[in-house]
Amino acid sequence: MEDVGIYRDRFVPRLVDVACGMKANEPLRERVCSGLSGRVIEPGFGSGLNVPFYPAAVTSVTAVEPADLGWKLAAGRLAAARVPVDRAGLDGQRLPFPENSFDTALSTWTMCTIPDIDAALAELRRVLVPGGTLHFVEHGLAPDPKVQRWQHRLDPLQQRIAGGCHLNRDIVAIIRAGGFEISELDVFKGRGPAFIDSQSLGVASSA
Ligand SMILES: C[S@@+](CC[C@H](N)C(=O)[O-])C[C@H]1O[C@@H](n2cnc3c(N)ncnc32)[C@H](O)[C@@H]1O
Repeated sequence: MEDVGIYRDRFVPRLVDVACGMKANEPLRERVCSGLSGRVIEPGFGSGLNVPFYPAAVTSVTAVEPADLGWKLAAGRLAAARVPVDRAGLDGQRLPFPENSFDTALSTWTMCTIPDIDAALAELRRVLVPGGTLHFVEHGLAPDPKVQRWQHRLDPLQQRIAGGCHLNRDIVAIIRAGGFEISELDVFKGRGPAFIDSQSLGVASSA
């Protein structure tokens, strides 16, 4: 069990930094961040790969990230940040903030990993102002049933090597079931294999 902890704490955040830090993701980060404004909450902040893409309308960012190493790897990006970024929470499933604390929320490739994603969405709805928006880009269940079968098969392995990441979550359905209304949505396949690169990018309202 000790080895699992070491792998999760010392290796996974580096793997995430490299895999999620691919150049190909940058246009997606730019798109998903473009509508953010005011006080932003970012569960699964990771190593701060979105920091260069926060638009001028953002006044502050509250990072919620359990991995200390992820936060350390963010140091360079944080030093260059144009807005104040604080790490003020460790678990998106239980947010230590009162109702109506944030104007917008950002989630990039994180809803695959938070164990109880329904609880995390309920928390986001609670801390967002009425009508506040969740801006997301996430990989998840592919539309093609053949690909889905592989996703279900490979999911246990993926969880082990990628820090609890699920391949087969139906992110759009999960967001809707969480009480969010999706106002913008683009579902597409990225450049990688469909089982890991079936993407949903959009905006959902907490109203
Ligand atoms: C695949 S990474 C994505 C990181 C970052 N959002 C990005 O785009 O580069 C998923 C992140 O979710 C974080 N995470 C895992 N469980 C979490 C939880 N319960 N609450 C908040 N974040 C969590 C992981 O530590 C990791 O940094």
